[in-house]
Amino acid sequence: MNRTTLVLLLNVFFFAFYSCDTGKKEVKRTTDFTTDWRFCLGDVKDAETVDFDDSSWRVLNLPHDWSIEGDFDAANPSGASGGALPGGIGWYRKSFLTTSEMKGKKIFIDFDGVYMNSEVYLNGVLLGKRPNGYISFRYDLTPYLKLDSTNVLAVKVDNSKQPNSRWYTGSGIYRDVRLQVLNPVHVDLWGTYITTPEVSTSRALMDVQTTIKNDWEKDVEVEVTSIVHDRDGKEICKEVENIQVQLSDTAICTQRLTLDSPHIWSLDRPYLYQVKTELRVNGNLTDTYYTTTGIRTFRFDAHKGFFLNDQPVKINGVCMHHDLGCLGSVANKRAIERQLEILKEMGCNGIRCSHNPPAPELLDLCDSMGLIVMDETFDMWYKSKTKYDYSLYFNEWHERDLDDLILRDRNHPSIFMWSIGNEVLEQWTHADRDTLSVEEANFILNFGFGEEQLAKEGEGMSVNSLLCKKLADRTRLLDPTRPVIAGCHEPSPNNHLFRSNSLDIIGYNYHHQNYADVPKNFPGKPFLATETISGLMTRGYYRMPSDQKFIWPLRGSNISEKEREDYETANYLCSSYDNCHVPWGTYHENSLRMMQMNDFISGQYIWTGFDYLGEPTPFGFPARSSYFGIVDLAGFPKDVYYMYQSEWTDKTVLHLFPHWNWTEGKEIDMWAYYNQADEVELFVNGKSQGVKRKADGEYHVAWHVKYEPGEVKVISRKEGKTVAVKEIRTAGEPAQIRLIPDRAQLSADGKDLSFVTVEVLDKDGNLCPNADNLVQFDVKGNCFIAGVDNGSPFSMERFKDNKRKAFYGKCLVVLQNNGNDGTCTLKAMSSGLESAAITINSK
Ligand code: GAL
Repeated sequence: MNRTTLVLLLNVFFFAFYSCDTGKKEVKRTTDFTTDWRFCLGDVKDAETVDFDDSSWRVLNLPHDWSIEGDFDAANPSGASGGALPGGIGWYRKSFLTTSEMKGKKIFIDFDGVYMNSEVYLNGVLLGKRPNGYISFRYDLTPYLKLDSTNVLAVKVDNSKQPNSRWYTGSGIYRDVRLQVLNPVHVDLWGTYITTPEVSTSRALMDVQTTIKNDWEKDVEVEVTSIVHDRDGKEICKEVENIQVQLSDTAICTQRLTLDSPHIWSLDRPYLYQVKTELRVNGNLTDTYYTTTGIRTFRFDAHKGFFLNDQPVKINGVCMHHDLGCLGSVANKRAIERQLEILKEMGCNGIRCSHNPPAPELLDLCDSMGLIVMDETFDMWYKSKTKYDYSLYFNEWHERDLDDLILRDRNHPSIFMWSIGNEVLEQWTHADRDTLSVEEANFILNFGFGEEQLAKEGEGMSVNSLLCKKLADRTRLLDPTRPVIAGCHEPSPNNHLFRSNSLDIIGYNYHHQNYADVPKNFPGKPFLATETISGLMTRGYYRMPSDQKFIWPLRGSNISEKEREDYETANYLCSSYDNCHVPWGTYHENSLRMMQMNDFISGQYIWTGFDYLGEPTPFGFPARSSYFGIVDLAGFPKDVYYMYQSEWTDKTVLHLFPHWNWTEGKEIDMWAYYNQADEVELFVNGKSQGVKRKADGEYHVAWHVKYEPGEVKVISRKEGKTVAVKEIRTAGEPAQIRLIPDRAQLSADGKDLSFVTVEVLDKDGNLCPNADNLVQFDVKGNCFIAGVDNGSPFSMERFKDNKRKAFYGKCLVVLQNNGNDGTCTLKAMSSGLESAAITINSK
């Protein structure tokens, strides 16, 4: 066959193929690929091969985390700081049939995250490895796919070498997986980049860059249409452009669209647009691709802090790890949404994805709920923090992982800065690799510098500084619209990262004592407290007197006998008055005060919003989850939650604590957080205990009262008029159970969740604040128990169970719809208590 005939034939096939899509309004790209996987815990020989018999393996749906299904054990190699749950090696396999519709298509598989060291095989062929457990990645299945026949995808996950993290990671394919069935001419992976170079209330310019991949067998001319839709789906504006794309290559099409009177994305009104991208070849639609975007402006100012849409906004943010308590690291959208709802309700306006790429669902939710996100790449570079961590892979993988994170995430309007590292050890003034040698720099930085260039680039800088500059420059190259920051714990200007002068914002973790020097030490640089506080609290537990301070773990040489005894008798409990924190941190009130009194501080990300698995500072095993959260692991707010709510929201807040069940005659410190009032008065069984007012810079009031059973009540007043009243009664013996679902109506998608709070009450309906009754659950219908918890950081009970002890009066059961319409009933029983039942509907 001569060349002309071949081209002709190809053309015939080409048009035949594309005409299949003629007339279609949309090209469906994505297929759910999460159901009917087979899983085996352990390393299995030949498990990647097609003929391997996996019939005895467990059948499950993804996402899945096998660690959370295990038992706590001090001997698990993750250690208490990794959550004391098992790791190991696991295999996943999925057999699937290709359909005739897939003929001529490009088939990809997209993983949002696999922890860790994944190897993906198709029909026995290794497609690739990925050490980073948080990064999203794609493989092209097309070359090894057998058409009209069964194919086997096998994934080996290796989380056996531990510790590899300072917190709980989970193990397995714990995020979403999708099959992408694409026409040969398609929008490439993460193939759009949308920026808004000009924004005003009357007009916004939107630049849309589309990367088009041509996997067809010849060069093509592609018609690229970008259509902006408002949130009601109405077409706002449109641009059409033709572009040549060479065979087996990509090309970038750049279009500018103009939006009149644009809706501006803000924290209160996070307005989202959708850009629909259509590709056409010879008039035939070959791809439809959607990108969500928002229009906003922002800046960080060295003197005045952060501005969103020209309005000053203090970043009242929290750091979050990725686990979802009893669900482990399984990235369930509703579970993430619930966390964000609880935090937003507190007045929180920002999330730091500490210290790794988050699940895409989190960013989607931050876009639609209005949160200021700091997206973070790494917890370490070359220098390790735990024996088997990412430092082992940094040299080979950091460029790829950094690029992939930025490319994946740069369209999210909620992201306002990129963090290139958390407390990386390269920053310390005394860190080695301080002197620059050509060989070393070239090895580390992979720049291919010559002597002369190196001398120029490296002027006054260390290798560590150059590495920082490399990462920062690369980040800005991929996204010039956002500043680059790092969470630093050496405040000195000699810090190698600061010395690189490549960070746009100075970010301190802790070191609040040094905030005041920032304007002097870093003139002209904006400042953000990237991590603050690390307060320690156990929900429901109060150690008095409340003005006694506990700085734990104990450090230094002159620790008093009393301090030692206090710590040793702590019994895995930290007091819920804001009177306990780590030596490197401070009190919540203190940090809040500094934020409010210093305009130059753009804000803070508090360590942490929710408790997380692992890092049970200040204790060791059996403690196995954190004490840092403003909200506990089960999602129950600790008292300080209401301090923030009283300061950060317009809601009327009056929160009184602790409970009112003590031994007769005991001296009790009663605290109240309140707002919108000028005074508060406390009553014990009707007798006034005095009127209190917060002074400037104070966030609570306190009374020292003698306990007597009955009722304690607080009234807040403004100009003499009652604003709010709160009463707490002495609870009697546990007598009944109350079930409070956060939602009684679910969608029947097999993923939706109802978080049911379980309370142990006395016969009159008062919460029994010390109850630890074991509650048994029975579920019938179209839901199953996805997890149980009670927020205790040291409970050894399993998260996957049908029972849980109450912890300070409460526990939690999470119900998950099983994919069917209809109802389910949850019954909760406990010996000696009246049981309770609720019904949940799914549609
Ligand atoms: C910080 C670190 C966090 C967490 C925290 C606990 O130094 O960045 O990941 O370990 O300390 O206080």
